[in-house]
Amino acid sequence: MTSFKTIEWKGRTVRLLDQTLLPGRIKYLTISDEKQMWGAIRRLSVRGAPAIGVAAAYGVYLGTARRNPRTLAAVRRTAEKVATYLATSRPTAVNLFWALEECRATLAALPGETTAREALAVLLARARAIHEDDERRCAAIARHGAPLLKKAKGVLTHCNAGALATAGVGTALGVIIEAARTEKFVVYADETRPLLQGARLTAWELKQAGVEHRLITDSMAATAMQRGLVQAVVTGADRIAANGDSANKIGTMPLAICARHFKVPFYIAAPLSTVDFSLKSGDQIPIEERADEEITELYGHPIAPKGTKTFNPAFDVVPARLIAAIITEMGVVRAPFGKGLKDARKRAQ
Ligand code: MRU
Repeated sequence: MTSFKTIEWKGRTVRLLDQTLLPGRIKYLTISDEKQMWGAIRRLSVRGAPAIGVAAAYGVYLGTARRNPRTLAAVRRTAEKVATYLATSRPTAVNLFWALEECRATLAALPGETTAREALAVLLARARAIHEDDERRCAAIARHGAPLLKKAKGVLTHCNAGALATAGVGTALGVIIEAARTEKFVVYADETRPLLQGARLTAWELKQAGVEHRLITDSMAATAMQRGLVQAVVTGADRIAANGDSANKIGTMPLAICARHFKVPFYIAAPLSTVDFSLKSGDQIPIEERADEEITELYGHPIAPKGTKTFNPAFDVVPARLIAAIITEMGVVRAPFGKGLKDARKRAQ
């Protein structure tokens, strides 16, 4: 159990912990329509693939309900518009599109005689189920993944794949915190340039969980591995292609390459809602590019000459061959990932 709630349904609104202000300020945002939700996702007030999915599902409900549609057809039409709009907030985390599709499919399955009021109630129930379901998936991922960290003296992670990034205990960080109950290791947390999710969010979560950790800059990870300080790397993912290629926060791929070089196992922890079975391989994953200022400024202070242009992809793709295992809620999947992930999906259905 964490002392904070990343995302919470409050009856008529959604309460989000504004992650852009952490760790300095704990401030909650009240979200009452889809525009506010779009903005919160876009500027990373709510972030992390599973949390974005949950937020988007609530966004569909809020945006549809406030327009007061009078018939089932009107609910469907409105929800479709709202979902299409929310889909433009961020492109990489597939959980966003997965959750929007779940909302669409739920409405599509309703019998013709359903009233608008009933349809809205079902839509909200779906969003709440996606929320609760993510909590369960995270708990299962933590349980399955923790044994992989037995006897490790050091575990490295990147970005934030903890409770802040999900509706539960997190994915990669959930595994790490669960393992730390019985094992004694140090967590090396990459600061994660450019937006410092590792420094601001992962270090904050680890401190609250009482897990020993060292914050490092992204460029120190290779040295930590070379010195034998790290026996496992565990990160989350934003989208996993059918063959296991995994997109995660920029800086994850170099970690996987270093891990292979230094013979350290590299694990991805993610729910099956992060697997995009429609994509054969990682080169088809859309990669978000973000604003120059995220690199040229730090907290509004320029750190590069005015007008400097940047290359700012928010994610990179780890080739499946560099991944030792993908930890899902259905268990630990090893290569060949194509078959393993499909089997896991079958078992989940
Ligand atoms: O840009 P962000 O902060 O949304 O990126 C988040 C990540 O890359 C996480 O590692 C990923 O979403 C997994 S979260 C359980």
